[in-house]
Amino acid sequence: MSERLHPIALTVNGVVREAEVPARRLLSDCLRHDLGLTGTHVGCEHGVCGCCTVLLDGAPVRSCLTLAVTADGHEITTVEGLAGPDGALSPVQRAFAECHALQCGFCTPGFLCTVTALLRDNPAPSDDEVVEGISGNLCRCTGYQNIVKAVHRAAELTAETGEEPVTGGRA
Ligand code: FES
Ligand code: FES
Repeated sequence: MSERLHPIALTVNGVVREAEVPARRLLSDCLRHDLGLTGTHVGCEHGVCGCCTVLLDGAPVRSCLTLAVTADGHEITTVEGLAGPDGALSPVQRAFAECHALQCGFCTPGFLCTVTALLRDNPAPSDDEVVEGISGNLCRCTGYQNIVKAVHRAAELTAETGEEPVTGGRA
């Protein structure tokens, strides 16, 4: 017997996207396979590494622990939605590039989403607050020092330019 499919409609990066998914389809798989948004990475698929982090109604969630059907009717921001419509990088993206806060980049989409929400809620975090804020995201390459620097730089850029943490204003 074929699996029953459920129609869902998600607003992803400001655009309504529809899909038909099995009840147990993970949001991470729905984004990557049904909607073609492969910027959201999948590492552990057990809620440990944080590389699948997206924003669900503005809150960072692990998309590998979220069923796509539970996101029906909600707003999702993925890494593809952080830049502006003209492709201009968001302050967090610019800071990560400027501070060399990535090497292989596999963890980076999750960090960018987590840090975007962190700075929206706390525009000038202390070192301890940054460390705590990114504690749910694992990076096997950088040693974290440059990521912490990048979060502070992103806070500076956001304050200097008055930009929203998400250039497109969708977080
Ligand atoms: S892939 Fe989701 S937390 Fe690791
Ligand atoms: S840059 Fe390679 S895992 Fe973070």
